[in-house]
Amino acid sequence: MWHRDAVIYQVYPRSFQDSDGDGVGDLEGIRSRLDHLVDLGVDGLWLSPIYPSPLADFGYDVSDHTAIDPVFGTLEGFDALVAEARQRGLRLLMDVVPCHTSIEHTWFREHPDWYIWSERPNNWLAAFGGSAWTKLGARYYLHSFYPEQPDLDWRNPELVAAMQEVFRFWLDRGAAGYRLDAIDRLLKDAELRDEPPASEPFGLPLRGEEASLARVMSRNAPGTGEALAHIREACGPEAFLVGEIYLPSTDWRPYLEHLDAGFAFELFHSPWEGGPLRRAVEATLSVREAGAAWVLSNHDFPRLPNRVGHENVRAAAMLLLTLPGTAFVYQGDEIGMVDGPGATPPRDRAGRDSHRHPMQWDPSPGGGFSDGEPWLSSVDPVDRNVEAQRIDPGSLLSLYRDLIALRPGLGEGFELIEAAPGVLAYRRGEHVVALNTTAEERPAPPVAGAVLETEPGALRGGELAPHAGVVAASA
Ligand code: NOJ
Repeated sequence: MWHRDAVIYQVYPRSFQDSDGDGVGDLEGIRSRLDHLVDLGVDGLWLSPIYPSPLADFGYDVSDHTAIDPVFGTLEGFDALVAEARQRGLRLLMDVVPCHTSIEHTWFREHPDWYIWSERPNNWLAAFGGSAWTKLGARYYLHSFYPEQPDLDWRNPELVAAMQEVFRFWLDRGAAGYRLDAIDRLLKDAELRDEPPASEPFGLPLRGEEASLARVMSRNAPGTGEALAHIREACGPEAFLVGEIYLPSTDWRPYLEHLDAGFAFELFHSPWEGGPLRRAVEATLSVREAGAAWVLSNHDFPRLPNRVGHENVRAAAMLLLTLPGTAFVYQGDEIGMVDGPGATPPRDRAGRDSHRHPMQWDPSPGGGFSDGEPWLSSVDPVDRNVEAQRIDPGSLLSLYRDLIALRPGLGEGFELIEAAPGVLAYRRGEHVVALNTTAEERPAPPVAGAVLETEPGALRGGELAPHAGVVAASA
C-alpha cells in the first residue's frame, strides 16, 4: 500500500497561496506551489475542506459536499490540480465531514429526518461550549459542534446512501482517499441517554465543561463499525481512509477494522518529555503496529513551536518522520511557523485563528501569499520563509527534506529501547533514533555512527547535545 510509510502534507487552502488577489488561498494557488511539495519529497497532500460553506466553522460546515466553493475555484480547477499532482507523483486526500453538515445544506430543509432530533434536550454538551441541542419549531436538533452544524443520523439508510455517493464522487474525480472529520461522532446512543459524570480523565485535552461528562453516550456508540463498513464499501479497498478519531487509542479497534489509520492524538498532545512521549508511542503502536497516522500539528491547536518550544522543533521533526506509519506535516511546520495574533474581531469563534495564518513563501511583508489584503495577516515572513530556507542546508526545511529522503532507507521493524532519563530512543530496522528532550547533555544509547543529526554535533563522544536528536547506525 502506497500510504504505509507515506508523508502527507496538510494544506489549509485558505492560507496556502492566493492566485487571484482576493486575500484567500485557492486551488490555482495550490497548483502553483506543488513544486514545494515535490522539493520536500512528500507523497501526497490532504486538503482541508474546499466545499461551499457559510464559514461558521471555516469549511467544516459544508453546504454542498459535491461542489467547490467559488472562493477556491471550480471543479475543472480541481481536476487540473489532481492531474498535475498525479504527474508529480503526489496523491490527494480530501477532507470529508460525515457527522454533520451546515445548517444551510439543502438536506436540512428537504430531509430533516436525515438529522437527529429530540422532543427534549438531554445533558450532552457541544465541543465548542453550551448545550449540544438547539430548538427549532417544537423540537431540538443535535449539534456536536456549533449550532450551525446539525448532526447527521447514520442510522437512517437514506442518509447512508446519500453519503456513500459523496464518498464515491471525489474518488471518481481522482482523489486517493479521505481524512474523516470527527469520526468518533459518527454514531451516538440510539436512545439519546444522558452522559453520566466523568469518573476518570479522558486522556486527551477537552475544552471547558466537556471534561465534566463521560463520553460514552454522545459518541463512539456500539454499531460504529457497521456505519464505517458502509463508508469502506463506498470507497473500495484501495482508498486511503484516515480517521480523526479523538479517542485514546485503546478505543480505536472498531475504527481500524475499516479505516487504514487514525491520527495519533496521544503523541500529538504529549508533553515534550521522554517518559510521556514513550508511553504515547507505546500506547498507539500496541493497538496496531502499522496503523498510526503520526501528526504533531494541525489547524485546530497551537503551532508546534508554541507547544514544544523552538528549541525542540528539530527533534520533533525527527520523531514525526522516523516513526513507523504515515506521517502528516501541517503546512508551515517545515519552516517553523509560529502562532500569530489572529484577527480582531476573531474569525473563528473557538479561537483558532492564530494557528491558521498564511504560509510564508518569501521575506516580503505579505510573505508572498497574496497580492491583496490577506484574510489573516502574515506573522514573521522575514524570520521564516520557504525561499531562504530552501537554499540553506542548515535550515529546518532542509532537515525535513533530509528526514523525508532518509525514511525509505530506515528499514523494517520498530522497538523502543532503554535510554537515559529524558531521552526517547528506538530501533528502526538497522538504525537507532535517539532524541534528547532535556536542556542538558544526556548519554546516547550505544550506536555506531550518526547518519543524520538535528544539528552538527548533536552526537558527540557518546553524548546527545541538549534538545538534539540523531538517527544512527546500530552498534
Ligand atoms: C475537526 C476539525 O479539524 C475542526 O476544524 C472542526 O471544527 C471540527 N472537526 C468539526 O467539524
